[in-house]
Amino acid sequence: MRAVDLIEKKRNKEELSKEEISFLLNEYLKGNVPDYQMSSFLMATYFNDMTASELLEFTMIMRDSGDTVKFDDVNKFLVDKHSTGGVGDKVTVVLAPILSALGMGTTKLSGKGLGHTGGTIDKFEAIEGFKFSNTREEVVSIANKTGIGLMGYSDKIVPLDKKLYSLRDVTGTVPSIPLIASSIMSKKLAIQSDVIILDVKVGDGAFMKDISHAKELAKRMIEIGKGAGRQVKVVLSNMDEPLGFAIGNANEIVEAIETLKGNGPEDLKEVVYTIALLALKAKGEIKDLSEGKTRIDEVINNRTALEKLSQFITESGGNGNLVNDYTLLPQSKEVMEVFSEKEGYISKIKAEEIGKAAMIIGAGRATKEDVIDHAVGIKILKKVGDKVNKNEKIAEIYYNDSKNVENSKNMILDAYVILEEKVEKQKAILEIIE
Ligand code: URA
Repeated sequence: MRAVDLIEKKRNKEELSKEEISFLLNEYLKGNVPDYQMSSFLMATYFNDMTASELLEFTMIMRDSGDTVKFDDVNKFLVDKHSTGGVGDKVTVVLAPILSALGMGTTKLSGKGLGHTGGTIDKFEAIEGFKFSNTREEVVSIANKTGIGLMGYSDKIVPLDKKLYSLRDVTGTVPSIPLIASSIMSKKLAIQSDVIILDVKVGDGAFMKDISHAKELAKRMIEIGKGAGRQVKVVLSNMDEPLGFAIGNANEIVEAIETLKGNGPEDLKEVVYTIALLALKAKGEIKDLSEGKTRIDEVINNRTALEKLSQFITESGGNGNLVNDYTLLPQSKEVMEVFSEKEGYISKIKAEEIGKAAMIIGAGRATKEDVIDHAVGIKILKKVGDKVNKNEKIAEIYYNDSKNVENSKNMILDAYVILEEKVEKQKAILEIIE
């Protein structure tokens, strides 16, 4: 078999066989197919898509390029919730303790933030002493005690994705639906769980800028799941404004804890409740999503979910008492207030811009090597649909280093799109696809 023949086949819109896909990917991983040929194949895929059977095979070969992780010694119904990356997205920090309090377990890989999006690892690492598990045994032990099994990504899981993603990044082939679907699903299929729930963010701050592309991505990922014998559910959630009010790391932990105390922002609650209900349905405990809400209210009102988070923090090396004492989290030294320059209704808060405004004061990373400051971040005080007056406070910047704070302020002002006419509040969940 020759790579060039397979590239020509894809160029000519012919379907590749399992053997051909396996040859191309495995030889690429070994270094026998060069980057220039793989680039050409990726570009042909970008234009000509993949059939369902090509996509399934492509994903399975990717999954099998590295380690897979079993959790059969965690005796719970296991949920793997994955988000495609957003701004202010602290869903995992709230959801995992709720699932645990509902008798389920979370087993998932978590990532670090890059660019305008944050990562769950960074948020938990804002807690002094907190150490992310990187061995399966540690994760299993903590998951059995607390119901929460979060593990950092390792280079040994789906190494082919790392290699392909770096190539896609420099060849204009990142925004290809089959390539995104196989990249995400190969990593999900590498980890054992009973249901995979994907939170596909849609909007300004997200990979998927419009709902039709997001739906197509959801459909392809569900199709891969079916082919692999896994249960996959998808929510499409709004990223035309940051989720909640806090963007940063320590401040997002506080907002997550407040949500577990019943004081959460409406949009964050809507996403968390929807995913928790989908998990209950996948487990077979409810038939319809309208049935389980009171059960979630209950574990929030009686503080069992909060207690699960506290236990998880303690088991991971941090001080679980911080759920009732936020002074145990890092605090920034300075605060700058941001005032609206216009009067009107907020129609959009460009999430990517807000994410970048947080990144340049140190809350995120421009490159993988950057060190972040967990204490800093942004609090937005107004959301889409709210009315603001000229000179009314719309945000606060919590910072330590004043170098980029003026820039950050200007970016926040630019991110707020304010119109004269009344604007409706946005829904956080745009669609559920099962
Ligand atoms: N997330 C991934 O893991 N892969 C992609 O290709 C896009 C988003």
